[in-house]
Parts: sequence; C-alpha cells; structure tokens
Amino acid sequence: MKGLKRIIMAGVWSMVLFLFAGWAALAANLGEMGGFNESDDGVIIKFSNGLVKVSRLEDGIIRVRATDKDKFEADRSFALAPDAPSPVAVKVMEDASGLIFETGLVKGRVSRQGGALTLWDKSGNLLMEEPKSGGIFFEKGKVGVMRVSPPEEHYYGFGEKTGSLDKRGSKMVMWNTDNTYTTNSDPLYQSHPYYLALRKGRAYGIFQDSTYKSIFDVGSSSANLLKYTAEAGELNYYFLYGPSPKEVIQRYGLLVGRYPLPPLWALGNMQCRWSYKNERQVRAIASKFRTNNVPCDVLFLDIHYMDKYKVFTFNKNRFPDPAGLFAELGKQGFKVITIVDPGVKIEKGYYVYEQGLENDYFVRSKKGGYFKANVWPGACYFPDFFRPEAREWWGGLHKFLWDAGVDGVWDDMNEISAWARDVRLGDYMLPFPGTVNFLDMVYGAKDHPVDAALGHNAYASLEEEATYNGLKKLRPDERPFIITRAGYPGVQRYSSMWTGDNSANWPQLKMALAMLLNLGISGQVMVGSDIGGFVGTPSSELYARWLEQGVFYPFCRTHTMELTPSQDPFSYGKDVLSISKAMIELRYRLLPYTYSYFKQASETGLPVMRAVFLEFPGDEQSFQDASEFMWGEHLLVAPVVEEWAKSRMIHLPPGKWYRFESSSALKGPRDFEEKAGLGLVPLFAREGAIIPLAPVMNYSSEKPWSPLLVEFYPGRSKTCFTLYEDEGQGFNYLKGNYLETSYCQEPGEKELVLRKSDGEGGFRPSEREVRLKIFGVKKPESVQSATASGLDKLAYSYDAQAETLELRLKDSVKGFAIKVSY
Ligand code: GLC
Repeated sequence: MKGLKRIIMAGVWSMVLFLFAGWAALAANLGEMGGFNESDDGVIIKFSNGLVKVSRLEDGIIRVRATDKDKFEADRSFALAPDAPSPVAVKVMEDASGLIFETGLVKGRVSRQGGALTLWDKSGNLLMEEPKSGGIFFEKGKVGVMRVSPPEEHYYGFGEKTGSLDKRGSKMVMWNTDNTYTTNSDPLYQSHPYYLALRKGRAYGIFQDSTYKSIFDVGSSSANLLKYTAEAGELNYYFLYGPSPKEVIQRYGLLVGRYPLPPLWALGNMQCRWSYKNERQVRAIASKFRTNNVPCDVLFLDIHYMDKYKVFTFNKNRFPDPAGLFAELGKQGFKVITIVDPGVKIEKGYYVYEQGLENDYFVRSKKGGYFKANVWPGACYFPDFFRPEAREWWGGLHKFLWDAGVDGVWDDMNEISAWARDVRLGDYMLPFPGTVNFLDMVYGAKDHPVDAALGHNAYASLEEEATYNGLKKLRPDERPFIITRAGYPGVQRYSSMWTGDNSANWPQLKMALAMLLNLGISGQVMVGSDIGGFVGTPSSELYARWLEQGVFYPFCRTHTMELTPSQDPFSYGKDVLSISKAMIELRYRLLPYTYSYFKQASETGLPVMRAVFLEFPGDEQSFQDASEFMWGEHLLVAPVVEEWAKSRMIHLPPGKWYRFESSSALKGPRDFEEKAGLGLVPLFAREGAIIPLAPVMNYSSEKPWSPLLVEFYPGRSKTCFTLYEDEGQGFNYLKGNYLETSYCQEPGEKELVLRKSDGEGGFRPSEREVRLKIFGVKKPESVQSATASGLDKLAYSYDAQAETLELRLKDSVKGFAIKVSY
C-alpha cells in the first residue's frame, strides 16, 4: 500500500514539475537587464531574453517596443497618421533598481529584473505598473504584456465590442469577423486594440499597434491583471497620458488621425433597406419622406442595384436610368449612397474582373493562383489593397458610380466576409456549410508578401484609403463620404462606420449605446447602429424608441435586412410617424450645434456622442452607465431602452441642469425618476449651455440657418460656444471660407452679459435674424447693448410664465455685447 502511495505521489510531483517546466519553457519574461544604448529615437535596453525600446513622441506619448530577437523588425504601422509625431530620444539614468527615464509629463522605470515598467506623472502619482517580475512575455512565438489592474480602475474603448460600457471582467479578441450578433458575440467586424483606463478621475490610454490577432483579458482570468497577447510579431504599444479622458483621446487622435469634417448632408437623416430593389421602390420611399415632411438627406441602395451583384455595374432591368433617377432625387434634396463589396465576380468579359486579372490586382492564395471564395455574386476574387497600384485602380473604378451621380460609398463585407459554397434559388442564396480559410490569403507584392495573419485586420482600412483617395480625385471639390463595416485604428481618416448586422430587440437597443460610446472613446467619431435593428422586425414601440436614440447617433440611418416588412417612419401608424417626425426634426434643428462639434472633432478627435464621464471624469456613477450620454459638451441625452416604460431613472452629474428648452432646472448630482412615455426623450442642458439651432427643414441644404436661434441656459460662471459655419461641402473652408463666432454668457451679481465675438473667417451666411433666447431668467429691468456711443436700449420680450427672455437682432459679422440687468 505504502509503495503504491509513493508511486502515486511521485507521479503527481513529476506531473506538477512537468507542467511547471513546460510553462516555463513556453512563457519567458525579459530576464535580466544587460546594458542600454541611447539613440536619437529612443533607448534600447538589452535583456537576457530580448530587447526593449522606449521612445518619446509628443509630451505625454511614450512608445514601447519589445522583441525576443536580437534586433527589431523594420518599423511599420497600418494605423499611424502620416503626420503622427515621430519617436525621439528619452533622457535616461541608471540606478540600483533599473533604468529611469523622463519624458516631460511622464516619468518611468524599467526594472533590472524582468524589465517591469512603472509610470508616474510629474507629481509622482502612479499611473500604470506591471507585475514586479515583469509584464512583457514571449510564449511560443506569441508576445504580450501584463499590467496591474487596480480594483477601482475602469476600462473603455476597444472599438466595436458587445457588452457593457466598462470592459473590466471581459476577454476580447481582435480579429475582424462577420459574426452572428448577440449581446455577447466577439469578435465583430472591427478591431481596435486600444483602451482608456480611468481611475479616480484620472485617465491614461494604451494603443497596442499590432494587426495580428490579439486578445485582451481585462481582469477576466485574474481580477487584478490586464493581459494582452498577440499571436505573433513584436510588442509595440503607445502609452497615452491624460490626465483627463478627453486628453487621452486627443493624444490618440494625434497618433492615428481624426475623422475629417463630413459634408453637412451626412449629418442628416438617412434611410436604407436591403434593398430598395427598383426605381419604383426608391421613388416611393423618397416621396413618403417629402409628402409627410419628415426630414431626410440620404437614400441607400443595397446590393440589388447591381447586375448580378457585380460591383461597379447597374442592373438595367431594375434601374434602367440610374443617372436620371439620381438627378430627380437630387432635385428633391436627396443624396444617394451605393453599396460596394470587395468581392469581384469571376466572370469572363466582366470589365472589373478582366482588369484585375490583366494587371494581377487580386489577392493571391498560398496554394498558388488567386484566393477564391463566394460572396453575393458567387465565386469571387478580391482586390489586393496592400498594393498601391491596386488601391489606385479600385479608387478609380468609382468613376462608374460617380458618373451616374452617386454621392457616397457604403463599403461592406470587407473583413473579408465570404463563404465556401452556396445554392441559388433565383434571386435568393443559401450559404452551404463549409469554411473558408482566410489565412490562406497572401497580400502585397510578390517580393514583399504580407501574410494573412498580419494583413487581415488592415485589409478594410486600406480599402477605405483607396476609396477616399479615389473619390477625392474624381470630385476634388467634394468631401468624400464613405461608410465601412470593418476597420482598424486610423480608418477614421477616411471613413465613417456602422456597427453591422444588429437585431431588432430591446437588449440590442440598450447595447448599441455602450458600443457606440466605446467607439467614440476609440476615436471613431462618425458611428451609428442600424436604427430599428437589422435582423428581424421591431415592434412599433421598439422602432420609435430606437429612432429616439438614433437621432443622437452621429451616423443616423434606419436599415433592415432582406425579406423583412418595410422599416421606416411610415411603417408603424400615425403615432410613430409623428414621434419620428418630431425626433428627426430635432436632429435638424440641432445642426448648427452638431456641425460645430464635428468641426471640433476633425481637429481634436473628440467624439460628438460621448460618454458622460468624458465631461465628468470625477462622477463615479457615470462610469458604468451607457444609457445616458452627452451630445457635445452641453446636452445630456437619456433615451428609454426598456419596453413599456413610462418613465426612467435619471442620473444628473454635478451642477445645475435645465430640462431642454425650458426654465425648469434641477441641481445635480441627483438621481430621480423622469417621465419618459413613448415620444419623450429626457434631454437636459447643462448650466452655461449655449445651443444654436436652425429652423426645421426637409433636408440639410433646403434652407439657410435663418433665423438662427441661440439658446442660453445661464450658469454660475462664464461659458462660451463657438459656432462653426461654412458652405457645408468642399474644401474652401481650408482656405479661410468659414465663419467662426463665439457666443458667451457672463453671469454677474445683478446682470447677465451676452457677448458675441466678431466673426472670424471669410464665409458669409445669407442675411438673417438671430434670436437670443435665455431660459430661467427674472424679468429684467433693462436690456442694453454696448455701442460706440454708450449703451442703447434694446427691444425684448419677456415671457413671465416660461421665464424666458427673447431678443431679436439682425445678424451681422460684427460682435455685440448685451447687458441684461435685474
Ligand atoms: C451585410 C450588411 C448589411 C447589408 C447586407 C446586404 O449583411 O451588413 O447591411 O444589407 O450585407 O448587402
């Protein structure tokens, strides 16, 4: 018996030792520090098991690279903006613990044993640290890093992810995938290996710039550890200092670029379905919008506009005169966006296929020949966007659509999404079981091949670059408008994005907010989810609720899949129609406010639809809740996401809040229940808010912003808002043809001063009246304007019941100061 026990124990021990030895052999940390070399672009630190390089970019951006090889790979990124700051040297000093470096805003130490990195701010506050034994590891070709995750730290960003706002406790894969979409599917179409960490009001960001498949384990396997693992390549990341969340996002924008100012029409309402199948159906939906006066700027054409789903063709039976149709729609104020999929049908004589073949523009297969898989048209080849000449070709192909008068491009299926086999029943297609091995692809020039494992996540971004540049060449005086499904950081320099094939159910209505807010934190400004849900059919209540929140999506589009009933503001009866109309009208009224934030976003990268904690980083209650968000800095939106709700709980962060367009105000922080029956979206203006509004219109260029209504919600200290205006299209604004006017409100003891600056820039809106409306004010004793000769009395109207004061002035480029005395 004893002998047997001994044998069993020995067996157990050898198993343990084997497993440990096995793990040790699999995973290695950096080992012991040897020496270091300072150079112009950073310091290289030698370890027994590899190299680490630390560089400084801008103040507050640090780059870390690590490899277990004896030298670093050639530097490349699929994300960085061409004008991103370059790495420069850091000041280093050696002490007993390791290597200390200084970069201005951030101070760091790389430890002697294991190379553990610790970062502090200038005042010595700990920002981020790795486990004492070192964070960086190498494991059978994989590479990764572990970071200490304090329990009170929260994690956001990660791009397009299902689940809740705070990603603590999740494990997420970065690999662009056309996935069946539930509230916890992962991964989806886009990959953003980036996050923002927030602890006690202070934030920092991390961008792991690797297109290889990677996994973020955010305290899921081990509560106090965040572990990042990439399947291959080097470790290459950027640390982005805050300390505010907004500063992190701005620094990220400096690195990967920002969403450029879109044409004004792209901020309008959009309508889509798979598909408006012929001219008659397109005319019918267009006319519904116009006859009911429901604003709409854009109609989308899904795959049925094409001949046998072949890209850059029109189906002559369904659309005999596309140019005529688009011109007719144009006269009614509609823009048209067509879908473009990357799959090119393999068909002799089809010009796109023939050109691609002739010039060898298609993605190759590792097995030889071109990579082949099925998409809507059947068997397809795929353009190789890794080659500049193929990008140029693809961009140029859009001439076909542009010649017909198309206004924008909708890039779908670009993860790549394809299947092995299918059966066709007339127009319909049923995918057959079978898998496509996407890793069989090989991109790039023959002598510089890019493996699928490295290129996969970058494919769509390169398609967007090709499309953007192509469109800009075709119509140099227009701002290209593109929407993509797949992407990688940096894609926002070229395209907007939508979140793919969501479903028409309440949990997904709720989740859309968390997903979009995290995309915003990830630098994706122009984002939206399909309003009403793509798969399935929403109830009339769900559609109305979705539209209530959807008018606050930067990209506002209703869309549904094939074979579903119609899904638009006219499909659910009178009540939903009037709710839809009112909500969409509000979106249009807000255009001057919203457009100004898009201009700001093009310079800063800050999202327009933003998580509440971006404005209130100290308000812990906002850390978890995505059901409320900010639209710009001044408006808090709290849409209903529950079925049958008549009210909802509201959390107001600190400060005074006005119910939108009313003098009724509440003091935050405060949690309370607010009436929110169907058709009611609780909306609050922050104290000090200044909100410029346009009149209601059917489409964004139907009317000038006249009269311009500027609403003031007085606060306790001075606030300003800069209104941005231009032609709404083109690039003349870059040559000075814009108008920037700053409106301020300055509260005093017994007065309120409203000030407008002189307009800056050469753009002149048409002659208009400006109405200034102040909420929550007592009846004034006098209202005077400061003129050269002193103070002039001004006519005003005071509404005692509403407690509002209104002034009407002829607008001019010259500034003013108006004193309201009590
Ligand atoms: C994909 C897109 C969807 C589109 C459909 C047909 O599923 O995500 O939006 O309608 O393809 O083109």
